[in-house]
Amino acid sequence: MTTTTKLDRFMQDVRPATPYLVVDLDIVEANYRALAEALPDARIYYAVKANPAPEVLHRLAALGSSFDVASVPEVELALATGVNPSSLSFGNTIKKERDIARAFELGVRLFAFDSEAELLKIARAAPGAKVFCRILTSGEGAEWPLSKKFGCTPDMAFELMKMAATLPVVPHGISFHVGSQQRDPGQWDAAVASAALLFRRLEEKAGIELKMVNLGGGFPALYREAVPAAAAYGAAIWDSLRRHFGNRIPAVIAEPGRGLVGDAGVIEAEVVLIAEKGDAAGRRWIYLDVGKFGGLAETMDEAIRYPIETDRDGTASPVILAGPTCDSADVLYEKNAYLMPDSLAIGDRVRIKSTGAYTTSYSAVNFNGFEPLRAYFV
Ligand SMILES: Cc1ncc(COP(=O)(O)O)c(C=O)c1O
Repeated sequence: MTTTTKLDRFMQDVRPATPYLVVDLDIVEANYRALAEALPDARIYYAVKANPAPEVLHRLAALGSSFDVASVPEVELALATGVNPSSLSFGNTIKKERDIARAFELGVRLFAFDSEAELLKIARAAPGAKVFCRILTSGEGAEWPLSKKFGCTPDMAFELMKMAATLPVVPHGISFHVGSQQRDPGQWDAAVASAALLFRRLEEKAGIELKMVNLGGGFPALYREAVPAAAAYGAAIWDSLRRHFGNRIPAVIAEPGRGLVGDAGVIEAEVVLIAEKGDAAGRRWIYLDVGKFGGLAETMDEAIRYPIETDRDGTASPVILAGPTCDSADVLYEKNAYLMPDSLAIGDRVRIKSTGAYTTSYSAVNFNGFEPLRAYFV
């Protein structure tokens, strides 16, 4: 259950104007602890992009989390928690050279790349830094796959790591991301196998001894479909590490984003309009005061299917859910079956659950004049 008494109490007692997100920091902490327990030998680098709120970062820093950052502002946000810059990994494979230089100046010493040009930028702008190469994964089993935009083939990684050894950087490790909201813990196996093979090839053929494997993110939040517990991910991943690396398991890091903050948040929204529009299936259109541009961007292609609740009961019928902006793309769910109570009325509040990840940071600044999604932390 996402809606804890703490979140319920906030929604009932404080009752801010909608739409807004409220995040229970104790759930963030519990998710962190569960993953840390499931992967006891891994160091956790929270992916700041999932929810960059200082409240979240401070709570995680206090628990000993390190941080995966995607930009200089994220470096600065993470450092503002007081963590040492050695706890940061600049995991974005697409960086301006001056941003690499700035992060290096701020003390960051760990950088990702997946192409020759990016590696050369790091070598110029961050001499002496440790680098890790991101390899491609299939993304199979993930509800938010990260596609071919990131990562290179293992053969390219082999060549790039050999090149890294000739540059003023330290070839340090291999990373991958099996796709966000990865519901199959078995999907790490092929990537761990590729990483282990690269470790062996680089050592045997080039005398390069890598030290770190980065498991990426992918750990799920609880949306409408059930997901395995953190322990199942830990067990499957550790089994893969043991099988593929044998008794030479390197330093392991993980970069969870969604899995730590997703089910810690609820967006409370209001029904703005209910309309009959001649839908062939007779469904009502329900327009909310939050949509794709107000923070629910991950409803793109209906990839992330949030649970939605109201206080109404009685019979429920299929509906089409949409946001409030004058943009036809601002439809949340049309293909997936969403049922809402027939008694639902304009002005009612609805709770969109498990919205702690990739919402505030995705919300538009002023599209149609709507302010960015406000967030509260309890
Ligand atoms: C480099 C990197 N690490 C970690 C994450 C976090 O992934 P997730 O939210 O699936 O845990 C992302 C997400 O895009 C990423 O790009």
